[in-house]
Amino acid sequence: PRVIFSGIQPTGIPHLGNYFGALVNWVKLQAEAGADDKLLFSVVGWHALTLPQDPRKLAAARSDMIALLLAVGIDPKRSVIFHQDHVQAHTELSWILGCLISVGRLQRMTTWKSRLAVARNANDESEIDDSVLNTGLLTYPVLQAADILAYKSTHVPVGDDQQQHIELARDIADAFNRAYSKKRRFFSLPDLMTTPSKRILSLTDPSAKMSKSAFDPKSRIELTHTAAEITTRIRGATTDSIQGITYDPVARPGTSNLLTILAACTGESAEACAARFASRDHGALKAAVTEAVEAALAQPRKEFTRLRAEQTYLADVAAEGAVKAREMADATLREVRKLTGLA
Ligand code: TYM
Repeated sequence: PRVIFSGIQPTGIPHLGNYFGALVNWVKLQAEAGADDKLLFSVVGWHALTLPQDPRKLAAARSDMIALLLAVGIDPKRSVIFHQDHVQAHTELSWILGCLISVGRLQRMTTWKSRLAVARNANDESEIDDSVLNTGLLTYPVLQAADILAYKSTHVPVGDDQQQHIELARDIADAFNRAYSKKRRFFSLPDLMTTPSKRILSLTDPSAKMSKSAFDPKSRIELTHTAAEITTRIRGATTDSIQGITYDPVARPGTSNLLTILAACTGESAEACAARFASRDHGALKAAVTEAVEAALAQPRKEFTRLRAEQTYLADVAAEGAVKAREMADATLREVRKLTGLA
């Protein structure tokens, strides 16, 4: 039996990247899972704290994320839906795992390196604004490994931007086994399950991925956007002045990103979408993308609005999820404590 685990940060309404890069795939895995397979989906509040958060907004975003998971089709009878911060075992395991991985290894992670680049003074490379480099940003992937390993997860479905984090989780699991459980190999190494859909890029700067934290709100489409908002954002998306439509992510990142989005909505390949629009212009492509995105989001948006008014129900789902998650994670931690001599 498989244990499938994934997480999402409650840092605002998910965008198309989260939707096609993760959520849609989770629902598909849920539908295909065998009766023995366990599925867990976590709203990772502690990870969100690595960037400054307004406490009231974070509280609302945590609850919204539960509503969204339900709205897209995660079924609490089939999957464990819970808040990371309801399960203390994650932080305890994170400490133990952190003692098995070097600082240098964490400093080589691309997310850390990009934070470091932001903190570097543009004029003087040797000057670093240390105040924005909190310890949590560095140890973020260790907590992520703890999320995964607390359930002895075997499969982690994520978008391709998370690949490095999953590789680290595998290395940490291996380090634990070598240190404490040579014969038994306590943790199996979790497998990365990359989403079939390609990475969705920013609509205004296709050199970056679509992201919740990007400054320009026009760079993303959120799951709750209205038809009118979708229309303006797709219309304003950066493309190019080359005639005709082709799928060429290197030379035509903006155009190709629209094709990726269209493909994710219709289930075709981006190349097949390009072929349909070969002799047409960006206006026609944008109209089709707008229509496809609106069709994909209409139902989850409606369901989200309905569920958002059901705060007691949402709290109940999270509480039930926490009970199930704690039971599993606590069992792992009891064994981890024994193996490490902390029992
Ligand atoms: P987060 O919250 O940034 O993103 C959630 C999921 O959405 C995917 N994703 C994208 N996919 C395609 N295109 C994009 N532009 C795009 N942006 C985001 C991500 O790959 C992810 O699957 N560190 C994780 C959360 C986490 C986690 C875990 C995941 C914490 N613990 C344990 C798996 C297992 C993160 O920040 O995801």
